[in-house]
Amino acid sequence: MKLNYNTIKTASIIGLVLLIICGFMLNGKKDENSPGVEFMPDMYRSPSIEVYGTSSLNGDEIYSSQFLPVKGTIARGHMPYAYPNTDAGYADAGLYLKNPIALSDKVLKEGEKLFTQNCVHCHGATGAGDGKVGVKLPGPPPAYNSGATKNLPEGKIFHSITYGKGLMGNHASILSTEERWKLVHYVQKLQGPAVVAAADSTKAPAVAEVKKEEKTK
Ligand code: HEC
Repeated sequence: MKLNYNTIKTASIIGLVLLIICGFMLNGKKDENSPGVEFMPDMYRSPSIEVYGTSSLNGDEIYSSQFLPVKGTIARGHMPYAYPNTDAGYADAGLYLKNPIALSDKVLKEGEKLFTQNCVHCHGATGAGDGKVGVKLPGPPPAYNSGATKNLPEGKIFHSITYGKGLMGNHASILSTEERWKLVHYVQKLQGPAVVAAADSTKAPAVAEVKKEEKTK
C-alpha cells in the first residue's frame, strides 16, 4: 500500500476518534457507581424522598410523610373535629355545633355542586332518598323533608356527613370541613322551611290524648 497524504489523514482521524472513545471508557472506569459524563445531571439525580427516614433536598432536611405526627400536634390549617363518633357525640353536635359559613347564594350553589358529585346517587336530586343507588339499598335514605330528618339540626347533619351513618359512609376523608358545611346549607335547603310550630302542634294533641287515656283508665 502506498502511503500518500490522504491515507495518513484518514488513519489519523480514525486514531483520534478511537482515542476519544477510549477516553470515555476510561472515564467510566474511575467509579463503578458513576454514570460517567452527565450532560443533564438533574435527570440522573432526582430528589427522591426516603420513605422511612429523613432526606435532604438542597441542604434542607425533609421529613417523610410516613412519619406519624408528634403527639398533640395539629397540622397547619386543620381544625380537629371535637365530637366523638358516639350517640353522646351526635347529641352534643346537634345541640352545640353551628355552621361557621354564612348562607349565601354562592355557598348554596357550591353546596349543590358538591351534593351532585357526592350524594345525589343515594339521596336523589331533591333529597327524597330516591337516588339510583339509594333505592337499591336495603334501607333507602330517609327523605330530608319528612319525618325525623325534616328538623334535623345543622350540627347533626354535619356530624352524620363527617362520620357517616348506617349504610352511609364516612365523608371526612373526601370532603374538607368547609365543603361539608356548605353541604349542610344545601341539605337544609332540601329540608324545606323549618316546621317547629307544626311539630309542636302535632305533639300537643298527642300529649293531650295520652292524658285523656290515663284518666279513662
Ligand atoms: C351510599 C349511599 C349514600 C351516600 C353516598 C350518602 N348518603 Fe346520606 N344517607 C344514606 C343512608 C342510607 C342514610 C340513613 C342512615 C341511617 O339513619 O341509618 C343517610 C342519611 C343521611 C342524613 C341524615 C343523617 C341523620 O343524622 O339522621 C343526612 C343529613 C345525609 N345522609 C346527608 C348526606 C350527604 C350530604 C351526602 C353527600 C356528601 C350523603 N348523605 C351521601 C345514604 C347515603
